Amino acid sequence: MTQPKGIFNKRVSLKNGDTLDIKVTEPPLTSYLAKVEYGDLIHWAWPEVKGDILTGKMTEWIYMPYALGFIDNTLVGSMAYFTPRDTQDIGIIEFVETLPEHRRKGISSILLSTLVKLFEKKGGLALLLCTANPVAGNLYEKHGFWYTIGDGMQRTNPKLSTKTADFNEWYFQNTGSTTIREATWGDLPRLSLLYNNPNPEWIIKDYLTESFNNTRYEYHFVKIFTQVQKSDGKFFLLESNEKRVVGSVILLRKNSFLEQHLGSLSFRIVPSYQQNTLDIIEHAKECARNIGISILESHVAASDSDQIKFLELAGFKLTTRLKNRLYNGTTWTDLLIYTIEEKHTGKNRKDKSEFYGARQEWQNQRIKNHLHPDRSSN
Ligand SMILES: CC(C)(COP(=O)(O)OP(=O)(O)OC[C@H]1O[C@@H](n2cnc3c(N)ncnc32)[C@H](O)[C@@H]1OP(=O)(O)O)[C@@H](O)C(=O)NCCC(=O)NCCS
Repeated sequence: MTQPKGIFNKRVSLKNGDTLDIKVTEPPLTSYLAKVEYGDLIHWAWPEVKGDILTGKMTEWIYMPYALGFIDNTLVGSMAYFTPRDTQDIGIIEFVETLPEHRRKGISSILLSTLVKLFEKKGGLALLLCTANPVAGNLYEKHGFWYTIGDGMQRTNPKLSTKTADFNEWYFQNTGSTTIREATWGDLPRLSLLYNNPNPEWIIKDYLTESFNNTRYEYHFVKIFTQVQKSDGKFFLLESNEKRVVGSVILLRKNSFLEQHLGSLSFRIVPSYQQNTLDIIEHAKECARNIGISILESHVAASDSDQIKFLELAGFKLTTRLKNRLYNGTTWTDLLIYTIEEKHTGKNRKDKSEFYGARQEWQNQRIKNHLHPDRSSN
């Protein structure tokens, strides 16, 4: 069995006198998976990739130290941070929990400061997280996190001269050349920062995951990346010469027999790199062609004129205007569908039988041979 990749252990006394043993370790965590009556602890992970996280498959791309707190050999609190294995610049704190009977002893506080110290010692620049729980909000505020977008919070490494409010502008400044590459699981934290950047102020951040202006993006990446992998789509990134993710384009194939020639496209680029927008859209168009997508469509808010400009420059045409589809409580906005069409090869990529519910060849044979019991002769 693969062993957990231990990073360090330490022992501390809690304010009530209990002793907390802390293990900081990377997955696999399967040996710590005990069912707890109230709470999830390390069972708490995104369902789409929970197995891959806990068995250590994700550690190829993501450095994911978990801080586990034990009292008398029982796991009582846990949390993790995820950061790209190569750059370790942006991290996301995930899955924070202390078992109810051990709360208010200072356990989360100790685990969090342990992870923050580790992240920043390794040169980490900013940690992101989210919470809907005001108690957790207190915990994070105490540790230097502050509210950014939606229910998101961020802590900027205090060694940086830039303040949290100016961090995005500093991080995303144009430093020169870029490359286009496919996304990996390691891009989850960097993409969260890209999508949580308030600029560009487009109403639709990512139509495919229903992520809109001022919503915090994080689990969206897990959902869309899993879908892209399943449906033969593509997720490309624009990476700066400092290995910062400054743009993205998602291509998602419709996963039905009749629509398999149809793809949806969604893109986002920080303003300082917008001159590279066409490069990344053209790359996606070429890739769509190569995987047999002949019609590409993109949903855009009618008021997001600079996004529309990029689509038009890339050859997309307005095909549908859906009146008043977007409403933010005060303003109605039309939703536009821009489309680009290429010549279809005339052949479907996948047969009907590869989709759900199609009649199989053996069933055709049975019918042809009249093998129904009511019809067979005695
Ligand atoms: C939020 C949670 C992780 C805190 O864990 P904990 O081990 O009890 O936290 P700590 O004892 O280390 O407390 C740290 C700080 O959090 C705040 N806090 C904790 N419990 C609190 C409470 N009941 N009311 C108000 N603030 C509270 C305080 O600021 C506290 O610092 P202080 O004790 O110096 O005042 C825990 O309540 C929990 O598991 N909640 C359910 C899961 C959850 O919501 N997780 C967060 C998801 S983002």
